[in-house]
Amino acid sequence: MRQFLHGLIAPGKVPTPTLPTPLDYAGLSREELTARITARKVERNAVILGHNYQRVEIQEVSDYLGDSLGLSQEAAATEADVIVFCGVHFMAETAKILSPEKTVLMPDLRAGCPMADFVTGPALRRLKEEHPDAAVVAYVNSTAEVKAESDVCCTSSNAVAVVKSIPRDQPIIFVPDRNLARYVQQRTGRDNIIAWDGYCYVHDDMVLDELARARKAHPNALVVVHPEARSELLEAADIVTSTAGMVDVAEKNDAVIFGTERGLVDRMKAQFPEKTFVPLSGAAVCGNMKLNTMAKLAWCLDHGRHEVVLDEAIRVRAHRALDRMLELSGGWSAPTQEEAALELAGVRPSGCGCS
Ligand code: 13P
Ligand code: SF4
Repeated sequence: MRQFLHGLIAPGKVPTPTLPTPLDYAGLSREELTARITARKVERNAVILGHNYQRVEIQEVSDYLGDSLGLSQEAAATEADVIVFCGVHFMAETAKILSPEKTVLMPDLRAGCPMADFVTGPALRRLKEEHPDAAVVAYVNSTAEVKAESDVCCTSSNAVAVVKSIPRDQPIIFVPDRNLARYVQQRTGRDNIIAWDGYCYVHDDMVLDELARARKAHPNALVVVHPEARSELLEAADIVTSTAGMVDVAEKNDAVIFGTERGLVDRMKAQFPEKTFVPLSGAAVCGNMKLNTMAKLAWCLDHGRHEVVLDEAIRVRAHRALDRMLELSGGWSAPTQEEAALELAGVRPSGCGCS
């Protein structure tokens, strides 16, 4: 690796070392980066939490892989001093909200979620003023400020259960995903959900034609679609579930068409090369998730950057909404022996107590 000194050094001047950048790690091989990450992790008592959409090599060095619910449960439960979050910004923020005493790091601060940016705190406050009786349900794909304005959070795996926990006659403001809101509306039969007009570009761009083509090419495959997709795709799917639910489907079936981001499909294909796993859409790539690289992860652990910092008043209010969700989802404790046996038998969904 080249020296971590940038710029020209005038003769006789003492050079001022500047912080290295991830580019300084570009010459390191994948093995060298893995060794460096593993060693630093132990030194710092750090845990790496990775979302299912991360690059395969990042998934391989993650201590815990999962969907948003599993990752937030893990963030709340971990005994590590440092949480390195390989995902997008709202996920790292959620970890900080739940574990304020821990240092939460992100390899690339620019890894945001465009869906989360559809709604802001002030905009949500205005809508709440128009519907003062409504309960506010915030999909975790939202900023800490939006969570602070909400009564309860939900993820793709527990949204239906969370909405069912709210009295049927009470209106609900659901932010920011219109597709998930519509799915929940259909599954609960409620007609009093006021949905924000946000969406995920990765899932919203998937179209029925692609699904039909994939089915024609693989007539025996199960079609599993993420609830962030449009309603016509959800209606045409065999199963609608979160990314962790999709991993479960992949483990139990030989042929699957995945209506979600490529990162999950790539890992499943690497894990089960003998099975037929195909993406519903080859274009379903979340550029934000892919901003995290092994070089940035090694840099992040070496230099303790970038740290996620939150306003304490916002954090405390956001914590309430997340806590309520975790209570409704079986909290964050590890499954008991009995629950683990039920999970194995397929009776209880793994990592989620919201059945
Ligand atoms: P999951 O909680 O299902 O992993 O979804 C998170 C996400 O960002 C999907 O786009
Ligand atoms: Fe956000 Fe969509 Fe990327 Fe998920 S896939 S992080 S919802 S932009």
